[in-house]
Amino acid sequence: MSQFKRHTITAALPYANGPLHIGHIAGAYLPADTYVRFLRLRGEDVVFICGSDEHGVAITLGAKKEGVSPRVFVDKYHHMMKKAFEDFGIGFDIYSRTSNPVHYETAQEFFKKIYDQNLFIEETSDQYYDEQEGIFLADRYIIGTCPNCGNPNAYGDQCEKCGTSLSPRQLINPRSTVSGNTPVLRPTRHWYFPLDKFENWLREWLIEGHKDWKTNVYGQCKSWLDQGLQPRSITRDLDWGIPVPLPDAEGKVLYVWFDAPIGYISATKELKPNDWEKYWKDPETRLIHFIGKDNIVFHCIIFPSMLKAAGDFILPDNVPANEFLNLEGDKLSTSRNHAVWLHEYLHDFPGRRDELRYVLTSISPEAKDADFTWKDYQQKVDSEMVSILGNFVNRVMVLTGKYFDGKVPAEQELPGTDDRRKKILTLYQQAHNDLNQAVKEMTACLKNFRFREAQFQMMNLARIGNKFLADTEPWKLAKEDMEAVAAILNYSLTIVGNIGLACEPFLPDGAASIRRQLNSDLFEVARKQFWQKEELVHVVAQGAALGTPELMYKKVEDADIEKQMERLRKTPLTAVPEAAHAVAATKALKPEIAFDDFSKLDIRIGEVVAAEKMEKSDKLLKLTVDDGLGRRTILSGIAKHYSADEMVGRQVTFIANLAPRKMMGIESQGMILMAEDNDGKLRLIRPTEDVAPGSTVS
Ligand code: MF3
Ligand code: ZN
Repeated sequence: MSQFKRHTITAALPYANGPLHIGHIAGAYLPADTYVRFLRLRGEDVVFICGSDEHGVAITLGAKKEGVSPRVFVDKYHHMMKKAFEDFGIGFDIYSRTSNPVHYETAQEFFKKIYDQNLFIEETSDQYYDEQEGIFLADRYIIGTCPNCGNPNAYGDQCEKCGTSLSPRQLINPRSTVSGNTPVLRPTRHWYFPLDKFENWLREWLIEGHKDWKTNVYGQCKSWLDQGLQPRSITRDLDWGIPVPLPDAEGKVLYVWFDAPIGYISATKELKPNDWEKYWKDPETRLIHFIGKDNIVFHCIIFPSMLKAAGDFILPDNVPANEFLNLEGDKLSTSRNHAVWLHEYLHDFPGRRDELRYVLTSISPEAKDADFTWKDYQQKVDSEMVSILGNFVNRVMVLTGKYFDGKVPAEQELPGTDDRRKKILTLYQQAHNDLNQAVKEMTACLKNFRFREAQFQMMNLARIGNKFLADTEPWKLAKEDMEAVAAILNYSLTIVGNIGLACEPFLPDGAASIRRQLNSDLFEVARKQFWQKEELVHVVAQGAALGTPELMYKKVEDADIEKQMERLRKTPLTAVPEAAHAVAATKALKPEIAFDDFSKLDIRIGEVVAAEKMEKSDKLLKLTVDDGLGRRTILSGIAKHYSADEMVGRQVTFIANLAPRKMMGIESQGMILMAEDNDGKLRLIRPTEDVAPGSTVS
């Protein structure tokens, strides 16, 4: 690690097509954040880069499903993910997005650099085209019968039943998953990156040069190389994406997997416009990509070859990819709403970020897939965070309060040869050795991306601390030997302080709590020493007043767990989990009504054709709504949640027969229906697919 001057740490750019769930967090973002905190504590020069991946069919089809433009779609999810990362405390130096102008320039420049060396192959071939939708179909959006096993629903790139990899043209009776129609073949011209030409170089650089990579990563790369590499098309026919920067390339955009990893570079440029190059071009910079296993070939084979082709870039020194996380024994799934969504967790468990960090690290899918269960969550929080860590810190604080009035007692040599003192000295020696050993192992694991084991060793410090207290029993000595009590508690406070240092990469909120409780002037100096020496350091000064004891963690209530389980059991109403907040449960239910009361409401779908902000009101938007028969004006108090521009083109649900009402001199002819969450945030209610304006709701 020391031969490097600085670190460029990236975490996979998540697609802006849905909210983040615990699988994303456990896969890439939490290990990356833990590692970056570790590096910073060691005083390393680090940039920590991430952002939203906003191109590709994942975006265009998602937008179609929600009935909005790709622009509106990515805006929504970009902001949502950015906020969830911030709220969770993932410390990116920048969270950018691939729709930024800097990224367009950088990606196009990158393309040109390779193009100008005549490396790309330009070729016209027949590809499947959906005539109804007017689009060429990506492999994943064509299904048909597998020529190998007869599975009628094989994908254009792979049959999930027999595992054979396929190309769309091999499918029998192909259908478009977008329209359901039979696609036709149409010629189209594309640019191909000659990956095959990099095969020998990859063998040398990766297979020979990086035997140190994790076996799951190395193995996947090797098997890819052993199958032989082919040129890969790096352009697409789409109207959303980065235009191919050539004069005769209308309608062609860069393939999302070509532009997205370049996004790491663009984001660094955005962060450090003047000296970004040293983070990407200086061989003394260490580049590390944190990703999930589905991204391995892109980061280990394709992107490195692109970097190599473009010239003068550094290559990844390590790619510590994780396997997958399951939930309650079942695959995490956005479409089935089988997930723990990060923003929902943060909402339901306010102030308890450390718990999720701790549990996810302790089951981190580093070598094989892992399973998250709420029972296990409760168990780990209760029996480890509360009973081991929180309890130790609290005991030491309370005992010091009791015997020494909350001031750090004097360190003692404990002279004397009586058995009692000899025993205490022996216990102290043993604890000291064990603690130093645990610190050494923890740092060694952190350096090797073994966060699960590293966190276990961190927790061992508290285990050893508890044992030290239990063995020395200072509460029994208080009458006979106050010097010994002072020595024991002085050392226990030292252990608390070192735990406060050691847990910073894992449990930032807990670390802050210990810092407040110890209230020590030595903390900053101690922190430096601890991470450099990798051994126990002095953290508390004799005679100094401690802060107020805090309960660092609290037990997880059965009801909290039950609520989460209940949510998972519920069948999703829509594929979009945003609506899944259990808000209804917390708001008072209204009295029962007769069906007739309900049927008096004329609820309809309309389309907003124009919108403007009402002057003199920070709440109201004036909307012109196409209601199927004509246009009407509706005033809606949503200006804090949607801009006028954002509203145009959207479908809304509204009450059409509400008596007109005048507000600020304008008559409102109806009311837009909104969902409101506990924080008072308003969200439109609209059909999951576009329907004709004027459609009724019943
Ligand atoms: N968006 C991709 C995914 O979610 C990851 C892109 S990583 C990058 O699987 F390197 F391309 F940015
Ligand atoms: Zn098959």
